[in-house]
Amino acid sequence: MAYLQTDVTKVTTRVLQNMKLHNEKIAMLTAYDYSMAKLLDNAKIDVVLVGDSAANVMQGYQTTLPITLDQMIFYGASVVRAIKRALVVVDMPFGTYQGNSKQALASAIRIMKETGADAVKLEGGEEVIESISRILTAGIPVMGHLGLTPQSINKFGTYAVRATETEEAERLMKDAHVLAEAGCFAMVLEKIPASLAAQVTREVKIPTIGIGAGSDVDGQVLVLQDMLGITQQFSPRYLRTYGSFGHEISNAIRQYIHDVKSVDFPNEKEQY
Ligand code: KIV
Repeated sequence: MAYLQTDVTKVTTRVLQNMKLHNEKIAMLTAYDYSMAKLLDNAKIDVVLVGDSAANVMQGYQTTLPITLDQMIFYGASVVRAIKRALVVVDMPFGTYQGNSKQALASAIRIMKETGADAVKLEGGEEVIESISRILTAGIPVMGHLGLTPQSINKFGTYAVRATETEEAERLMKDAHVLAEAGCFAMVLEKIPASLAAQVTREVKIPTIGIGAGSDVDGQVLVLQDMLGITQQFSPRYLRTYGSFGHEISNAIRQYIHDVKSVDFPNEKEQY
């Protein structure tokens, strides 16, 4: 299959919309730093998400709640400096958009001005629609996020699959339409039944990006450290790993320690 959009010089929200129209899947991964973002961009990833999962994989917190706006801006700016082609989306952290649309707009403007990212992402449906609409009126593209929304972990009490019951599934369906009609350019669907994600994808006109949402969505996203096999003791059913880089890195570090201690490194060619 020919990939229609691989040769674009810059992925935009319009390109993603075209990909949905032409049934070309969207590949999205997270990144939080310059070096990794450069590798992703060189490999022609479509979308780089500076996720608030940075709270987990970069900062070691159990939840995404503690990460701050300043920290997300720091990660976002580092990633943007590496990117030429991919669309860069920065997550709005917990507490910067819920319940106060003026604050939401101010937070989104800071992200856009101080990182140079292309868009922001925030979690929730109807309950955050005022914030989403206000951000959109400033010309800032918004990616939605439904299903398992980790910033609400204290409400859910679990990271288990969402919307398995009819009532929650119907609410999610309604929320998906609300986000699309408000003008979001795409939405993440996290850890929901594949059949529900497929229905959302059929019904809404904007691209859906799944994580634990099956294959009948417009694209997929994974956390980089998870798919590279760096994250320890995390193996949800939806996760496919593309290497054991945790082991590779540990082995390299052990070898380095050995070489230093045995005075094997540096050798004659490695000195001046
Ligand atoms: O923060 C994040 O990395 C995310 C993805 C898991 C979608 O929101």
